[in-house]
Amino acid sequence: MIRPRTALAAVGLAVLAAALWWRKNPSACPYGQRFWVEAPHPFITRDRLADVLEPATGERILEIGPGTGYYTLHLADAVGREGALEIFDIQQQMLDHTMRRVGEHGLSNVTPTRGDATSLPHPGDSFDAVVLVTVLGEIPEREAALAEIKRVLRPGGRLVVGELFGDPHFQAFGSLQRRCAAAGLSFESRSGPRLGFFARFRA
Ligand SMILES: C[S@@+](CC[C@H](N)C(=O)[O-])C[C@H]1O[C@@H](n2cnc3c(N)ncnc32)[C@H](O)[C@@H]1O
Repeated sequence: MIRPRTALAAVGLAVLAAALWWRKNPSACPYGQRFWVEAPHPFITRDRLADVLEPATGERILEIGPGTGYYTLHLADAVGREGALEIFDIQQQMLDHTMRRVGEHGLSNVTPTRGDATSLPHPGDSFDAVVLVTVLGEIPEREAALAEIKRVLRPGGRLVVGELFGDPHFQAFGSLQRRCAAAGLSFESRSGPRLGFFARFRA
């Protein structure tokens, strides 16, 4: 008979092995596992995102990888009716889920588009800001995604990236800074500890 402690250790090891495999083979968090993105986001809170991003009424913002919309409603509120929030995700189910919530809250300034962040359909210089929270590590070709983000940001536009340790696809602050610099995005500020932070870059 297997002892409870042994069984627990085996489950822990299996979870760790799965997380390491997933990190080495990045892919989108499946809709069926959306409970991960619906849980509270310690350190990378909505208030902290607002402090770092400083969204203004009338701005046009692109949120890549909204998941089930943890930040979407607050971002849409912040830009107001005069502004626009585009949400862009590789999974239609995530977009549908978020748009249901958008509808329930009576918001009319959010537009969904499905696609891969390495090939954005938007014209150049079209956004004041781009938001990417716990998404970059899920994209196998991160450099291509950052190049696309740089392209669609207007000169002087902001990119805010959020990362949380424990996410199998966590991007450490140092490597994020290097990748963004290589894409022509200058680091401006970081809020939060290295284990859970928002970093702001400028195009
Ligand atoms: C871990 S979830 C984060 C959701 C949300 N930002 C949050 O923090 O609650 C990652 C999201 O990025 C999306 N995603 C992953 N790879 C993508 C890609 N290549 N292009 C666009 N979206 C992608 C996933 O479908 C998922 O909705």
